[in-house]
Order: sequence, then C-alpha cells, then structure tokens
Amino acid sequence: MTVRLIAGCIVLLFGAAVMIFVAGFDGANASLLRPNDPQTVATGQDIYAAECASCHGLDRKGQVGWEKKSSDGHPLAPPHDGSGHTWQHPDHALIELTKYGTSEVACRTLDSDAMPEFQETLSDEQVIAVLSYIKAQWSPEVQRQHDEVNAVFGGSDQK
Ligand code: HEC
Repeated sequence: MTVRLIAGCIVLLFGAAVMIFVAGFDGANASLLRPNDPQTVATGQDIYAAECASCHGLDRKGQVGWEKKSSDGHPLAPPHDGSGHTWQHPDHALIELTKYGTSEVACRTLDSDAMPEFQETLSDEQVIAVLSYIKAQWSPEVQRQHDEVNAVFGGSDQK
C-alpha cells in the first residue's frame, strides 16, 4: 500500500513538473514583440517615422479610404492603430508580413506593388522594434486582445 502511494506521488510530481516546464516554456516564448520595453519602443518609433509613416501615417491611421482600393486597383495602407486589422495577426505573422509581404497563418499575401518588403532593408531586431512600437500605441484592451491572438496562434511559432 505504502509503495503504491509513493509510486503514485512520484508519478503525480513528475506530471506536475512536466506541466510547469511546458507552461514556463510557452510563457517565455509567447511574445516576440516587446511593447513594454521603452528602449525597443523608442527605436521602433524612429524606424516607423522613417520607413512606415509615409503610407501608414505618422498617426498610424493609414491612408484615407483604405478600406477601398486606390484608383489604380492597388490596396491602400491600412491603419496600424487599434482600428485596423493589424492586431488580429500574431507576432510572427506581423514579422513575416513586414519582411516578406506574406504569412501563412494570416492567410495573406500583400500586394508587392503597394507594400515594400523589408527583408533587405531592416534587420529582424529592427522589425521587432517597429512592430513593438506599433503595439505599444494600442489601448490596453487591444493589446490584451492581441496577447490572446498570440496565445491561440503561437506568437513565436516562426515558419
Ligand atoms: C509604400 C507604402 C508603404 C510603406 C512605406 C509601408 N507599408 Fe505596410 N502596407 C502598405 C499597404 C498598401 C498595405 C496593404 C497591402 C495589401 O493589403 O495587399 C500594407 C500592409 C501592411 C501590413 C499588413 C496589415 C494587415 O493587417 O494585414 C503590415 C503588418 C504592414 N503593412 C507593416 C508595415 C511596416 C511595419 C512598415 C514600415 C517598416 C510598412 N508597413 C511600410 C503600404 C506600405
């Protein structure tokens, strides 16, 4: 009886240890963006002004009438404030969209004539910084919704 009890406890402890390990691992990797790191956000703000604001707007409101296409048939730049659909994509999809213009998880390929690919222009750290800046400007509610998107789709599950 005692042996069985001890064996049961060991199994339980082992199970708990595995669960804590997995939970800790997920937690550590859930987010690639760092909207709470002032240094990253400040760097991202400069990059945003230099590389993104000309289309997405310094106020991040996107181009006027962005929901419709421009007269030449190309999409217009959507807003990066909480009103657009940027927050609906997990971290790794936003990074992929910015670098390559495409993301499997977002089921999206951006119009390459309308949105430049930044894979040659910006380093991974710079892409993370500019997206961290964008996220840091969202309301706490939108940031929380984006955290949930990351939790569902895996913020760091890079392809
Ligand atoms: C020359 C104009 C232009 C510049 C500069 C630009 N973008 Fe875009 N961006 C667009 C357009 C237009 C779209 C929509 C393209 C489409 O839907 O096919 C877009 C879409 C996006 C999307 C996808 C949004 C979504 O919800 O699917 C992301 C993310 C993005 N841009 C990030 C950036 C970042 C970050 C920068 C700066 C590093 C940047 N863009 C610079 C024009 C631009």
